[in-house]
Amino acid sequence: MRSAVTRRLSTDVLVVGAGLAGLYAALRSAHHRREVVLVTKGALQASNSFWAQGGIAAAVDLDDDPRLHVEDTLAAGDGLCDRAAVEVLCYDGVGRLYDMEALGIVFDRDLHGAPALGLEGAHRRRRVLHVGGSESGRRMAEPLIARVLADPRITVLEHTAVLALAASDGVCGGVHADGPDGPVLVEAGATILATGGACALWERTTNPPGATGDGIALAWAAGAAVADLEFVQFHPTALAAGTPRDGFLLSEALRGEGATLVRDDGSPVMAGAHPQGDLAPRDVVARAIDAELRAGRPVYLSAEHLDGGRVAARFPNLVEALAGVGLELPGGRIPVAPAAHYLMGGVHTDLDGRTTVDGLYACGEVACTGVHGANRLASNSLLECFVFAHRAADHAAFHPGSGTVDGAAPPAGEGGGPAPADLRRRMWLDCGLERDAAGLTDLIAWLDEQPDGPAVTVARLVSTAALRREESRGGHFRRDFPERDPRQAHRIVLTPERVS
Ligand code: SIN
Repeated sequence: MRSAVTRRLSTDVLVVGAGLAGLYAALRSAHHRREVVLVTKGALQASNSFWAQGGIAAAVDLDDDPRLHVEDTLAAGDGLCDRAAVEVLCYDGVGRLYDMEALGIVFDRDLHGAPALGLEGAHRRRRVLHVGGSESGRRMAEPLIARVLADPRITVLEHTAVLALAASDGVCGGVHADGPDGPVLVEAGATILATGGACALWERTTNPPGATGDGIALAWAAGAAVADLEFVQFHPTALAAGTPRDGFLLSEALRGEGATLVRDDGSPVMAGAHPQGDLAPRDVVARAIDAELRAGRPVYLSAEHLDGGRVAARFPNLVEALAGVGLELPGGRIPVAPAAHYLMGGVHTDLDGRTTVDGLYACGEVACTGVHGANRLASNSLLECFVFAHRAADHAAFHPGSGTVDGAAPPAGEGGGPAPADLRRRMWLDCGLERDAAGLTDLIAWLDEQPDGPAVTVARLVSTAALRREESRGGHFRRDFPERDPRQAHRIVLTPERVS
């Protein structure tokens, strides 16, 4: 029964969020014999990770090398990646694959028993491992969830929204939350935010409605710095508006297997637009499709020329989902349009996931290590979840904080629900694939008049950073500053003292 009295729980490590980063951070902390509480605002199966289709990038093939993976990641990041973070990702990532297998994740194999490797945009090698074809997210999360539930050191609080971090004077000692049993104060030696991204703040999105950037708002309210928030990745191929599953993702791996982007008359959209054609970096492909749509020309993903059996085996959930809305893959053309997909920026962390607030860590999409720069390389995000959750959990296990919450302000508001429709529309129109000073200024003025809440906070931070970057680079395109400006090849870090 729900109680009005605040329960108190105490733990070594508190993990907020149950995507791949959160699940793995919990398991890794328990591996170090730490008591863990894992809090998630929905069910364990409701994370954004669950929806991931492409897979996980790692240089495991004989003709590949982590060094090449580093170079591809840096090139996609358009001059803004933190090289040290990228090296950690690409070199540590290979080791993390063994950990994943030990946890029961079984990667798809080719006929010779080697990992089957997919190709995605801007990778110069086939290096995307997958599980169950395009069901990778769910099939990677399920074994981790089973282990989390079976681990006596891990207490799971589902349907529990974090209202505020219990932080004062730059130190975090846990969280104030509210769940089915009423309010709860969880005191923790270390708090690891793994709350995922924020792309459900845009009208067109591939993300589930819960991806509202809660962790960014919580960390910001506690005084943490955030970085790179102007860089939003718009995925080129989501189902177009007007289809029954508007925004449903059509994995880039389809283009990796030979699907192409065509107009009504069958002519290729990307011919001559970029040397890598259909597999050019996502921002390039997304803007090319957007330009066609603005000119009134629909764009289709076509796999008609591919082997039907192979497509069905490689993309089973896509074939099924499309059939459910009357679209045929690979037989028919699928109408596509860009949608907000991934936030490169987030809570500013070092390579151990430490934020600028003591005792507070972040990993996965909520974090910004600088690994993605201005544009994330496809399928680096699931790798990031494991690599940086591992490092955050290791650091937290051996650097316990005080876990006291004396002096921490009690929560003022409510946990974030889905973002309001008018906010999502404004973000799409004024802070979408193309932005300019006039639209962003209007948007910020409008946000200033909205009732305070996590979605408004995050939308304001993103649009403030977008207004500040007066150039075009990676996922950030300014109509009024369409060129890249070498003098702006540095990151925008916002701190609560410097932006109100
Ligand atoms: C996709 O499958 O196209 C998405 C993979 C990713 O976002 O890296």
